[in-house]
Amino acid sequence: MAIILGIESSCDETSASICINGEIRSNVIATQAIHAKYGGVVPELASRAHQQNIIPTVEEAIRQAKINKNQIDAVSFTRGPGLLGALLVGTSFAKSFALARNIPLIDINHMQAHILAHFIDDPKPSFPFLCLTVSGGHTQIVLVKDYFEMELLGETLDDAAGEAFDKTAKILDLPYPGGPLIDKLAHEGNAGAFKLPEPQIPGLDFSFSGLKTAILYLVQDQIRLNPDFLKENIADLCASVQSRIVSILLNKLKKAAKQTGVKDIAIAGGVSANSGLRKELMEMGNKYRWNVFIPKFEYCTDNAAMIAIAGYYKYLAGDFVGQDVAPLARMHL
Ligand code: KG4
Ligand code: ZN
Repeated sequence: MAIILGIESSCDETSASICINGEIRSNVIATQAIHAKYGGVVPELASRAHQQNIIPTVEEAIRQAKINKNQIDAVSFTRGPGLLGALLVGTSFAKSFALARNIPLIDINHMQAHILAHFIDDPKPSFPFLCLTVSGGHTQIVLVKDYFEMELLGETLDDAAGEAFDKTAKILDLPYPGGPLIDKLAHEGNAGAFKLPEPQIPGLDFSFSGLKTAILYLVQDQIRLNPDFLKENIADLCASVQSRIVSILLNKLKKAAKQTGVKDIAIAGGVSANSGLRKELMEMGNKYRWNVFIPKFEYCTDNAAMIAIAGYYKYLAGDFVGQDVAPLARMHL
């Protein structure tokens, strides 16, 4: 019997989760609405909100799991990568909790946890599998050989896929975070309405900065001719942008599958909530006879369930850290 408390505080969601023997019993997420009016995450405000939210969020996770906090066997927390001041809140909480209860402390890499979210529900991928991890801060193609043995095959050279969504949304005058909104508006648009460039980057790396510039110039030129251009074309613009981001991602994933011969293919991270990406990946999977793994929506964007499940596997391996552990803004896979 192992009961793990997972804590996530790397960006703008404060989250706590209880995992019992590999099964998620609660996953409470306090989203910080404050950042919307600034058009992006403000690190200082994020730290402050984490500080306010952490205790009630953990208490609610324990309540929903119908356990007593004395039953918790270990606490896992996001050590990085992320905003340092935000990570410090979760790290300090986890350290105090482990110290007070005299239980093991487990550090978790946030990017590994996004991938390990695939081990929450069935069916689970088998090793080795490929994972396209796409979030607000990262875009990576990872060869996952074991729970904590991962090889980075490719990554973005500039913006992350989530950033590409959010920054183009800003150019289109949409509020932050723009990703989900572009997704919604794209449903009513024509993806072929605007031709956007596909960057020619060698290997399995990505680039999104050219796409952002292309959209900026397109919008600036068209607004000069017609001040209502954005309003009149918003759905077509969203559909075109989304379709291009998705094709950039999936063309590289297809290349990685071909190079490695791996047939179990997964996506993870906030952008894996995108309906266009999910749909196109399913179609590509059917075509190439892949076993495709797409996380449930609640496990795509930042959550503590993925930290708790990763903690569970580290707990089984007896992989703990001491009270001198500190968070890391940058952390490799
Ligand atoms: O993984 P995540 O919650 O946080 C980070 O670790 O970065 O990812 C957040 C990113 C944001 O850029 C957000 O716009 C994007 O995921 N996102 C989406 C969708 N839902 C979230 N992008 C496109 N379509 C969506 N449906
Ligand atoms: Zn994330």
